[in-house]
Amino acid sequence: MYNLSSSVTWKKLEQLARETQNDRISEYFSDDAGRFDKMSLRLGGLFLDYSKNRLSGEIFKTLLKLAEHSPLRQRQAQMFSGDIINVTEKRPVLHTALRNRGEEPVTVNGQNVMPEIQAGLKKLQAFTDKVRDGEWLGFSGKRIRNVVNIGIGGSDLGPNMVCRALLPYQHPEMKFHFISNVDGQHIKKILKGLDPETTLFIISTKTFSTQETLLNANTAKQWFIEHSHCQGADLGKHFVAVSTNKAAAMEFGVNEDSIFEFWAWVGGRYSLWSSIGLPIALSIGYERFIELLEGAFEMDQHFQNAPLEKNMPVIMALIGIWYINFLGAETQAVIPYDQALHQLPSFLQQLDMESNGKSVDMEGNPVDYATGPIVWGQTGSNGQHAFFQLLHQGTRFVPIDFIASLQVEEGTEAHQFALLTNMLAQANAFMNGDAAGHQQDYTSCPGNRPSNVLLLDQLNPHNLGALIALYEHKVFVQGTIWNINSFDQWGVQLGKRLATEISRNIESKSTEYDASTQGLMQIVKQHFSGSSPVAKEQSLKKEPSAALTKVAVQPAKAKKTA
Ligand code: F6P
Repeated sequence: MYNLSSSVTWKKLEQLARETQNDRISEYFSDDAGRFDKMSLRLGGLFLDYSKNRLSGEIFKTLLKLAEHSPLRQRQAQMFSGDIINVTEKRPVLHTALRNRGEEPVTVNGQNVMPEIQAGLKKLQAFTDKVRDGEWLGFSGKRIRNVVNIGIGGSDLGPNMVCRALLPYQHPEMKFHFISNVDGQHIKKILKGLDPETTLFIISTKTFSTQETLLNANTAKQWFIEHSHCQGADLGKHFVAVSTNKAAAMEFGVNEDSIFEFWAWVGGRYSLWSSIGLPIALSIGYERFIELLEGAFEMDQHFQNAPLEKNMPVIMALIGIWYINFLGAETQAVIPYDQALHQLPSFLQQLDMESNGKSVDMEGNPVDYATGPIVWGQTGSNGQHAFFQLLHQGTRFVPIDFIASLQVEEGTEAHQFALLTNMLAQANAFMNGDAAGHQQDYTSCPGNRPSNVLLLDQLNPHNLGALIALYEHKVFVQGTIWNINSFDQWGVQLGKRLATEISRNIESKSTEYDASTQGLMQIVKQHFSGSSPVAKEQSLKKEPSAALTKVAVQPAKAKKTA
């Protein structure tokens, strides 16, 4: 029985937290001139400096024991080999197989899945080459110039973030748009400027049952038919789908050979390496998409083979556990000093918080220790003018990951220099404070606030793939040590069910809800003249959910508010 918080190592770490509470990071540097060299690590185009952390040699050694005493290596082997480690959904976890560049088989239920993964990549290559080369034409014979991905969560955040990060590699004659929110303003704004003749829609949804995506897909379909006057088979030139649910995609009206399938053993937040990465491959090209996979594979190899004390994901995971479980950190800040990575914090929010936002362990018992942190962040240097005040002088303990790339675009040398020197200054200031010995007053920055610095030689597909895989494995290591299932997400089902229920009951004076929900339902109901959209569909169809896939839901005319 793996009982984490009563283990000797855990108790030792609690003791070390007490004993070192007045330690200053800066003193660790005075005590050891080789600290920076000892506590930094390079893997390919990634460099991690973790020396500015509240880690004495003894703390680090004890944290490594925590990893050694956990089932980390065993669970790692199980994951990579396709064992069912997502026990509540009875599924393997094989996003690593999607980028496996090796020859060894990966088996699911006794069957090697690599051939079907490779077949999926071939289909992706054939399609993306055709679209990018202008061979795939729209109904009026024009090439595709705008690609619209319709998806949410893992069917949006990963592809969206990667396409933005790798904008310099984007096809010069194509533009990429991402519709995710069910808010009508979002889809309206994006459709407004598009020409249906040259637009390709990608309906990305693992389950093909997510209400927001289906409503957006229906609205896009309605818009397309109204603006193109094309019907039937021609639609197929402008709508493709990425899903595990082929039947539902076909029922929506996507041609069978335009459905890019993937597998139940790929978690949504881990799926950008699968056909969910279709917008990425369309944007940067298939070869570059493979470079993204190769970067992740390089990190996978490192994660599997490097000793714990030289293992980047393990080190970042253990530092996080030290702060969360022993120094009381509740959040983890991710601050990319690179505008191209401005969507990375949002991606990492789902990756980390949907994976480790759990309070029940693998045996179904409530945990008695903290688990996944609140992940948040914004680009630097903007953050310096928004929330760094709190980070410097506030009462909260917030560990920071700084991320930057060293490449310099032609003509932007001064800007890049300013960006990087600002980041170095901030990491230094957080650690040292204004060490001038100021009395603790309203001007002083106490310092002793830790950070990691991750430097990419350049923000290219390979290094970005490695960076994303680094965080995936960090999350895996933390989840394993916390003995939780990082790969299910039962917490999001309740809200989904209630949303459907409330939209159905908004017409009735249902008393099954608390007074607040009932009161608010009445207010919302008054703002839809006549009946709510779903009520209209209910009068047309038996099953409102069927309405979402068959017929576009017409938003009722809202009353003009004063
Ligand atoms: O947030 C819940 C969730 O199931 C995510 O895990 C997933 O990425 C997202 O919704 C979208 O799901 P789908 O790809 O099935 O539309």
